[in-house]
Amino acid sequence: MSKQLIITSALPYANGPLHFGHLLEHVQTDIWVRTNKLLKKDCIYLCASDAHGTPVMMKAESEKLKPEDLVNKITSEHEKTLRSFFIDHDNYFTTHSEENKKYSELIFQRSKDKNLVEIKTIEQFYDEVKGLFLADRYVQGTCPSCRAKDQYGDNCEKCGAKYEATDLINPISIFSGETPSIKQSEHLFFDLSKQKEKILDWINGTDLQDAVKNKLKEWFKEGLKPWDISRDEPYFGFPIPGYPKKYFYVWLDAPIGYIATLENYLSKNSSKSAENLWNDSDIYHFIGKDIMNFHTLFWPALLDAANFKKPSNVFVHGFMTLNGKKMSKSKQNFLLIDDYLNILNPDYMRYFLASKLSCGVDDLDLDLLDFQKKVNTDLVGKFVNIASRSQGFLKQFNNILSSNLDEELLKKFIDKDKVIFDLYIERNYSKAIKEIMSLADMANQYIDSNKPWVLNKESANSDKVHSIASTAINLFRILNLYLEPVIPKTSSQIKKYLKCQDNIEDISSFLKNREINTFKPLITRIEDSEIEELMKVSKNG
Ligand code: MSP
Ligand code: ZN
Repeated sequence: MSKQLIITSALPYANGPLHFGHLLEHVQTDIWVRTNKLLKKDCIYLCASDAHGTPVMMKAESEKLKPEDLVNKITSEHEKTLRSFFIDHDNYFTTHSEENKKYSELIFQRSKDKNLVEIKTIEQFYDEVKGLFLADRYVQGTCPSCRAKDQYGDNCEKCGAKYEATDLINPISIFSGETPSIKQSEHLFFDLSKQKEKILDWINGTDLQDAVKNKLKEWFKEGLKPWDISRDEPYFGFPIPGYPKKYFYVWLDAPIGYIATLENYLSKNSSKSAENLWNDSDIYHFIGKDIMNFHTLFWPALLDAANFKKPSNVFVHGFMTLNGKKMSKSKQNFLLIDDYLNILNPDYMRYFLASKLSCGVDDLDLDLLDFQKKVNTDLVGKFVNIASRSQGFLKQFNNILSSNLDEELLKKFIDKDKVIFDLYIERNYSKAIKEIMSLADMANQYIDSNKPWVLNKESANSDKVHSIASTAINLFRILNLYLEPVIPKTSSQIKKYLKCQDNIEDISSFLKNREINTFKPLITRIEDSEIEELMKVSKNG
């Protein structure tokens, strides 16, 4: 029997609504999960809210909510949004849970038992007004290198210089606007360098993307530094047992949330323990390139320290830009998933994203005009067009398909099934879509060259017309099975229209001598006015 697959998307922070960057990742993961499920692999698709850390704590304060209540509210919003996009998680949980507390403490304890945790005193900026230690990105000041104003405490956006927050000229706290003081504090560190060989073994035994391997080489060259895994109060997180007033840093318990989400899933579905199932499964994480270090250095090191199985792979994707520019709320270039859902069918965007996604880490631009053109040309103009131009001829046969089909042509279509599903499994979705669309072109050419509208003028041709239209409907059915992981909502509507719930494993059983439903336009062209509306909401972000 093949192994259980555990598949995850990164856990979105619970401090605001989901945007199209998140969507890219969930669509990429969901297509992969659906493909595997269609191929009868046993998959569990997990995600959750990343509940802890300073931004969530500050957001709750500004909304006058307890952080727990903010997290609950946002988690159910996120879940609803993703469900509306047909993202089919098996469990959507939160990192602020008993399960996660248990595993965070366990993994910490096992790391300590292996002497991987040390205590050091560090100096940090402290906001006296807010009573808060300040992480690098909460301090702003003038760059010590090029004197650019308003730079954050880790590096300069203008000249690229890297420095310590305490090197900034005229530093201020972004929370109070006041000059922070410098204060000492004891922190706990996970000694990454002691895990160097284990991480290298994992890297060498894993089929990571080239870009990921190259980045890892750079990090190894710079040297593996101890990783600060504690934060001082006030902090929204789990208290560290045995270290009063210290909390686990959000990035320690966040990936452990994958295991906790599995445990919560199992508590509802099975009697197996999460630790056993985790160790017996193949584990795949989908993430963006900005959080690669957490998933390819710290995470395997932590899992190894605690005797948990390390990921089978980490699939990294690039960043999404909108109309050629960085997505940014402040620069009014931003698209929320919910705003899109008020205007258009989710399958349109799922299709567009699939047509752009490859297995690389390149950035992906969402150009709204390009999106409109792609959907109108491919989905409406090529794919659904096959059914809409054939169905009229079937009415004279009471919507009953002929038993006489062009089986040679149908076999050519079926022969592509391995190529196309392999491309999905390789996450080369854009290539899979190209293959499918070239088949759609072939199907349209078949109708064009047989000219059923000419043949239909003479009743003697009736059998031929019946056969052509029925063959076209069968071609349409095959393409629908190929597109199913990408456009699940439309796909299931088409199955209803065809009165046939078969899946990809039944691809070779043709529809003959049976009735189908009356055709209704399944999807329609995206209008200019709808694109204008999308442009408008993306400027109000
Ligand atoms: N909470 C962490 C992840 C913890 S995983 C144990 C986090 N959250 S996030 O909300 O900032 O991002 C969630 C995912 O969305 C990440 O994989 C991130 O790379 C991805 N994206 C966020 N903005 C993005 C784009 N503009 N484009 C593509 N993906 C982006 O990081
Ligand atoms: Zn600078």
